[in-house]
Amino acid sequence: LLPFYCMIVSVKPNSMKVVIDCDDAAIDLKKVIVGHLSAKGVEVTDLDYLGKKSGAYYPEIGFNLARTIKNGTFERGILICGTGLGMAIIANKVEGVYAGVCHDVFSAERLRKSNNAQVLTMGARVIGPELAKMIVDAWLVSEFQGGGSQPKVDQIRELERKSFNPEG
Ligand code: RB5
Repeated sequence: LLPFYCMIVSVKPNSMKVVIDCDDAAIDLKKVIVGHLSAKGVEVTDLDYLGKKSGAYYPEIGFNLARTIKNGTFERGILICGTGLGMAIIANKVEGVYAGVCHDVFSAERLRKSNNAQVLTMGARVIGPELAKMIVDAWLVSEFQGGGSQPKVDQIRELERKSFNPEG
């Protein structure tokens, strides 16, 4: 049972396309995470929104990344700002995209296994690089477990449809 269980809740991290971006508060941490993922053989794309639009605020940076998840270009995204909060708020404004702030390993695992969220957000002013790497690793190898969590995420989707399309 255990190997089968592992099969359905774990994924091969290097088979996934991950996208990352950050605001001005998290440039150093983003570099650390890109290096960490690359060293593990994970295909990671840095959108570098700030490199294209200097001085951009976190809402448009997060929105830009969330749209690449919605349109299927990438499967998973990482957004880093000062607290992780603003990035989570904006990413959740894109229909079909689910994001959560994680500053501990347990939450990072549950974000995938229970909530099926595609986007992990972190705060560079809250945690250090070593913990951030552990959080990313836990999130990367975890996959949605379905079961009792399925009707709950289905309900999020249903309520989201009502919110985004009140007439529909
Ligand atoms: C700095 O712009 C700060 O507001 C931002 O990085 C983030 O913490 C917002 O949630």
